[in-house]
Amino acid sequence: MSGISGLSVPTFDAWARDELVAVERALEAWVPGDAPAGLGEAMRYGVLDGGKRLRPLLVRAACEAVGGAGDAALRAAVAVELIHAYSLVHDDMPCMDNDVLRRGKPTVHVKYGEAQAMLAGDAMQALAFEVLTPDEGMTPALQARLVALLARSAGHAGMAGGQAIDLASIGRGLDEAELRDMHRRKTGALLQASVMMGAACGQPSAAVQQALSDYGWAIGLAFQVVDDILDVTQSAATLGKTAGKDQNDNKPTFVTVLGLGAARAHAQMLRRQAHEALAASGLGAAAGRLAVLADKVVEREN
Ligand code: IPE
Ligand code: IPE
Ligand code: MG
Ligand code: MG
Ligand code: MG
Repeated sequence: MSGISGLSVPTFDAWARDELVAVERALEAWVPGDAPAGLGEAMRYGVLDGGKRLRPLLVRAACEAVGGAGDAALRAAVAVELIHAYSLVHDDMPCMDNDVLRRGKPTVHVKYGEAQAMLAGDAMQALAFEVLTPDEGMTPALQARLVALLARSAGHAGMAGGQAIDLASIGRGLDEAELRDMHRRKTGALLQASVMMGAACGQPSAAVQQALSDYGWAIGLAFQVVDDILDVTQSAATLGKTAGKDQNDNKPTFVTVLGLGAARAHAQMLRRQAHEALAASGLGAAAGRLAVLADKVVEREN
């Protein structure tokens, strides 16, 4: 614990530990075990017990930065993680990346079959929006704002669109601008939405929203650049997913297009941009968790 003005402020690690417990509990409560015909088991397998939960941490840290409502942010954190987990289940299917290992376990389709994996992803996506639309406890305006942010980041303009570009790019060269556009959509959009959903749980000024949006885009792109780097530098044991997959599949990535050194330099440049955006927000110490999360995105090893 470190003290500021006589108040006890948890260190980042202590804060993250508590947050991860809360998020895990909420996911555990939301993802049904009793969905019919084994669907619930497949959903729980795909969501629980694994994953760094970076997106939920971003939601909660952004909410804290603007002094927002923690209950709403916990729902937003669960919703974003459900969309992310669904995207991984589908990303791993034979019709997409055809991967057998995820979060250190056999992928959902390996364990439960392709049809069940597809349905588990579908149901996770729908559940995300159910979580954001409770009968009480959140204003209709906040529900609508959170649903809009999440829908935009998950759909054709964001993740699904980026995944379509990814599959259409196999064996093709992309230039740097095209690559950046693909990465911003397929991965950056959901990370940026995580930050904006957390911020939406408070009442930030337009200037703070813009600064947090810039921060979100910078770390969002950095996240996928680093994912591309880790694919070539880390083992499957560290990653919990197949290593060397992008080169094997002939995918254009920041490493295959720019080279490892330039990809690393790009990630560092995006980290600086993220910190500059936080400085411009004027949030000061309130944005401290977001600053640490930007560093973690770039320094992570899995
Ligand atoms: C992996 O995301 C897929 C990408 C969007 C690059 P994460 O690295 O956040 O995966 P988990 O949630 O920790 O398993
Ligand atoms: C996935 O990108 C992005 C998603 C939207 C799921 P990758 O295909 O590079 O993710 P990994 O490496 O399989 O986790
Ligand atoms: Mg993929
Ligand atoms: Mg993949
Ligand atoms: Mg990857």
